[in-house]
Amino acid sequence: MNTTNTMKAMVYHGANDLRFEDRPVPQIIHPSDAIIRLEKITICGTDLGIWKGKNPEIEETAKAKTGHFDGRILGHEGIGIVEEVGSSVKNFKKGDRVIISCVSRCGTCENCQKQLYSHCQNEGGWIMGYMIDGTHAEYVRTPFADTSLYLLPEGLNEDVAVFLSDVLPTAHEIGVQYGDVKPGDTIAIVGAGPIGMGCLLTSQFYSPSQIIAVDMDDNRLALAKELGATHTVNSAKEDAIQRILELTNGRGVDCAMEAVGIEATWDICQNVVKEGGNIANVGVHGKAVSFELNKLWIKNLTITTGLVNANTTGMLLKTCCSGKLPLEKLATHHFKFKDMVSAYEVFKHASDENALKVIIDF
Ligand SMILES: NC(=O)c1ccc[n+]([C@@H]2O[C@H](COP(=O)([O-])OP(=O)(O)OC[C@H]3O[C@@H](n4cnc5c(N)ncnc54)[C@H](O)[C@@H]3O)[C@@H](O)[C@H]2O)c1
Ligand SMILES: [Zn+2]
Ligand SMILES: [Zn+2]
Repeated sequence: MNTTNTMKAMVYHGANDLRFEDRPVPQIIHPSDAIIRLEKITICGTDLGIWKGKNPEIEETAKAKTGHFDGRILGHEGIGIVEEVGSSVKNFKKGDRVIISCVSRCGTCENCQKQLYSHCQNEGGWIMGYMIDGTHAEYVRTPFADTSLYLLPEGLNEDVAVFLSDVLPTAHEIGVQYGDVKPGDTIAIVGAGPIGMGCLLTSQFYSPSQIIAVDMDDNRLALAKELGATHTVNSAKEDAIQRILELTNGRGVDCAMEAVGIEATWDICQNVVKEGGNIANVGVHGKAVSFELNKLWIKNLTITTGLVNANTTGMLLKTCCSGKLPLEKLATHHFKFKDMVSAYEVFKHASDENALKVIIDF
């Protein structure tokens, strides 16, 4: 155990104010908590969004509860070693190596009983690095340890293990499962960031016949091709809608997945899906988009959105152990935790740096 009782952490203090500073080591608050000493973490696009001020509810909620906001440690992804468990934790003990899920779940509230873990009504859902302190620190407190941690199997590539916290379940559940990808389907994945790449890899569980990846970054599109895209479209250089329609003989795709979170990419999706198809929105949108219901109502579409439930994490973990998903290719950059500020800077300029996911080791 850390004897000084302080640790380094990346702390959000308000829009564009992120500090690498000393914080107290977290303590068990509830009997179902665990304290994890982190070994490997990563930064999510969502953390960048918070940094830029996209989630002012963080300080608003803290102020409404306690009257002040002392900053929030970011991060909801990582693996580590159990340092301490609360008195009611049964499945984990000190020394276990674990994967931390970005979504915690009590397992007993009305929403958890419906498997809608993202909206757990107790201290669950996506809460770490958002409403409570997160993983961008030497230690983290994880609520509901028994139902929110996964034992890290020996032999699993540890960079890949980190992607099981968020990237892979989000892509699989909100992109591929909600998008109802079936054998023989034609699909378009708009956005070839880590989430789009996760959609690309996990959609192949269901054997689609055509996978069209769309992005504006040729490096990312080249990787998408390597990971199984049958076609790539650079939407900065060509009209993506027209090109997707050409590639599908004018019919459009069975499923379009939005993995960016802006109007331009939503618009591509709503214009390329064929009748009876699905639009699965994965992107976190900061602004309203134009939804052409006047054109779409007649097409018998299914349109889905959502926050990851992490209800397929266990299944994805087994698939990763089989070595069938070359996810390690997403880990383009490695840093030491002491260089966390540089890791954020590189990730902020991911396209210029040719970075996809930055991995931080302790
Ligand atoms: N729903 C959820 O539970 C959930 C969970 C995690 C992340 N997300 C969201 O998913 C989205 C994708 O995450 P990510 O980490 O892959 O983000 P990212 O920023 O790394 O990737 C986005 C990709 O979109 C591309 N892009 C940007 N503008 C484009 C345009 N006009 N046309 C085509 N491509 C364009 C970029 O080049 C980039 O490759 C984000 O909005 C993120 O917040 C959602
Ligand atoms: Zn995330
Ligand atoms: Zn719950």
